[in-house]
Amino acid sequence: MNTRTIVDEDYFTIIDVIDNWWGDRQMSHLLPRLFFEHFQQTSFIVEDSNHHLAAFLIGFLSQTQRNVAYIHFVGVNPEFRNKGLARELYNLFFLTVHTLGCETVKCITSPTNEGSVSFHRAMGFSVALGTNYAGYGQDRIIFSKYLG
Ligand SMILES: CC(C)(COP(=O)(O)OP(=O)(O)OC[C@H]1O[C@@H](n2cnc3c(N)ncnc32)[C@H](O)[C@@H]1OP(=O)(O)O)[C@@H](O)C(=O)NCCC(=O)NCCS
Repeated sequence: MNTRTIVDEDYFTIIDVIDNWWGDRQMSHLLPRLFFEHFQQTSFIVEDSNHHLAAFLIGFLSQTQRNVAYIHFVGVNPEFRNKGLARELYNLFFLTVHTLGCETVKCITSPTNEGSVSFHRAMGFSVALGTNYAGYGQDRIIFSKYLG
């Protein structure tokens, strides 16, 4: 496996698989190309030895809260799940944003995404319910982790 920061062209590779990786949910519209153009320093991709996409993480630094970083998306190829790839990507992100001055990492997920909730708990995030966070009747789980 090889891990590197993302480049513009990774947009197409990820958009091709993302709905399938999320269990045929429509997700691609939540990951527009701007993330691949403007957040390269804090976004990562893992490829196997044949350069096939194994996992990715898209994250950025908050402009509003200078000591906060946000993970917008993490996805692991179903063939490579439960092997520690997401943990590895999160740890790389923690290290990168801590070096850039961030003390806290935040992210959200849908309350129905139980796998994501379990993963974030395993990664040491605190869990809170954001009522109407994404619109009326659209609750989200809000995760937060203090890096120190
Ligand atoms: C959630 C996801 C990113 C986890 O990736 P992964 O590489 O399989 O996770 P890891 O192997 O690094 O697991 C790290 C820890 O989380 C736990 N974990 C991961 N997925 C879990 C699940 N579905 N249920 C319960 N625990 C889970 C693991 O047991 C492990 O805990 P441990 O280290 O204490 O043993 C992956 O399942 C995925 O891509 N899901 C679809 C996309 C998604 O929902 N993304 C998150 C919302 S943006």
